[in-house]
Amino acid sequence: MLLPLAERLYRVFYGGLLSRLPEATALRVGQALFRALPVAPLRTLAVDDPRLAVNLAGVRLPGPVILSSMYYDVRILRRAMALGFGAVTTKSITAEPRPGHPEPNLVRVTTPAGPGLVNCNGFQNPGLDAFRTALQQLHHERPLIVSVAGESPEEYRRLVAALEPQADLVELNISSPNTRLVYELSGSPARVGALLRLVREATRKPVILKLSPDYPDENRRAIVPAALDAGIDALNFGNTRRVDEPRLSQRSGGLSGPELFPTVVETVRELRRTVGSRLGIIATGGVDTAANALAALEAGADAIGCFTAFVTRGPTFPRRVHLALLGAIQERGLRHLADLRASV
Ligand SMILES: Cc1cc2nc3c(=O)[nH]c(=O)nc-3n(C[C@H](O)[C@H](O)[C@H](O)COP(=O)(O)O)c2cc1C
Repeated sequence: MLLPLAERLYRVFYGGLLSRLPEATALRVGQALFRALPVAPLRTLAVDDPRLAVNLAGVRLPGPVILSSMYYDVRILRRAMALGFGAVTTKSITAEPRPGHPEPNLVRVTTPAGPGLVNCNGFQNPGLDAFRTALQQLHHERPLIVSVAGESPEEYRRLVAALEPQADLVELNISSPNTRLVYELSGSPARVGALLRLVREATRKPVILKLSPDYPDENRRAIVPAALDAGIDALNFGNTRRVDEPRLSQRSGGLSGPELFPTVVETVRELRRTVGSRLGIIATGGVDTAANALAALEAGADAIGCFTAFVTRGPTFPRRVHLALLGAIQERGLRHLADLRASV
C-alpha cells in the first residue's frame, strides 16, 4: 500500500517535473527537496528484516542495497540512511576542495537498456578538512562507506588516515573517468599496487577498491591480484564507463545506468570465481530493478551499489528491492539472503 503510493507520487514528480528541467537545475531541485524532508517519516520506508542482513568484509549491512558514491552533504547522507539503504557511500573526497568541472557536467541519455546519465562531475567536493568536520554531525544509523580519490599513492594514504576513524568501511576510487590522474591509475597497475600497500598500512578498517569497467585486462592481470596481495577486503565493480558526449563541458564523461548492467553481472561472476570467498564484492552499475539486483547477488555479489536508480526510480528504490529479495528468500525456502548464492 505504502510502496505503490510512494512510487506513483515519485513517478509523477520525476516524469512531470524533474525529467523536464535542465539536468543541473533538476539536480539542485531534487537535492534541495530531499534535504528538506523530515527524517522520521523516511524511516517508514526502510525494510528492517534480519533475513536481509549481509556481511561485507566483516561489516554487517542490514540490507544489501548500497547508495553508491555521489553525495557529500551530510544532510543527504543522513536521509539516505533513514530510507533503509544497507550502507551509504560518500562522494569521493579529495585533499583540497574542488569546484568540479564547469556545467554542463551532467546529461540524461536514453540507452537501449533504459534511462541513464553521463556525467563529468570532476569530484566537486569540499575537500578533506571541511568534510572531516562535517562528518562529525553524521550519526551512523547505517554503515558509512567513505570514498577517497587522490592524485598520488601518498595522497590516498593521507586521505584514508584522516578519514578512516569516521568510516565503517573505506573505498578507494581509482576509476572515475573524469579526472585524468585518477582514471589513469587503472592503466598503471604498479602504482595501484604501491597505493594499496600504503593504504593498507594506514587503516585496519575494511578497504574496498572500486574498479573501472574500461580496464578489464589490467583489472584481471594485475589490479585484482594486487588487491589480494595487499590484503584489500572488497572489490566494487564498478564505476561509470567513459563515453564521448559533446553536450558536456569536457566533451566526454562517465555513463551510468542500465546499459552497464550486462558487463557488471558477467564481471562479478568472473571476479567471484577468481577471489572465492577471500574478498567481498559489490556490484555497481545499472542495477535499477529488483530482478537485476537478484541477478547480481546470484552472480556472486555480497551487496549491490546504485546511484542512477535513486534518481530515475526514486527514494523508494531500496524498499522495492529489499521487499523483492525477501520474496525470493521465502519462495526458495531459504533462511537468509546469504544462502541465496548457494541456492542457485
Ligand atoms: C553525477 C555522478 C557523480 C558521481 N561521483 C562519483 C564519485 O565521486 N566517486 C565514485 O566512485 N563514483 C561516482 N559516481 C559513480 C557512481 O557511484 C556509480 O559507480 C555509477 O553511477 C554506476 O552506478 P549506477 O548505474 O547505479 O549509477 C558518480 C556518478 C554520477 C552519475
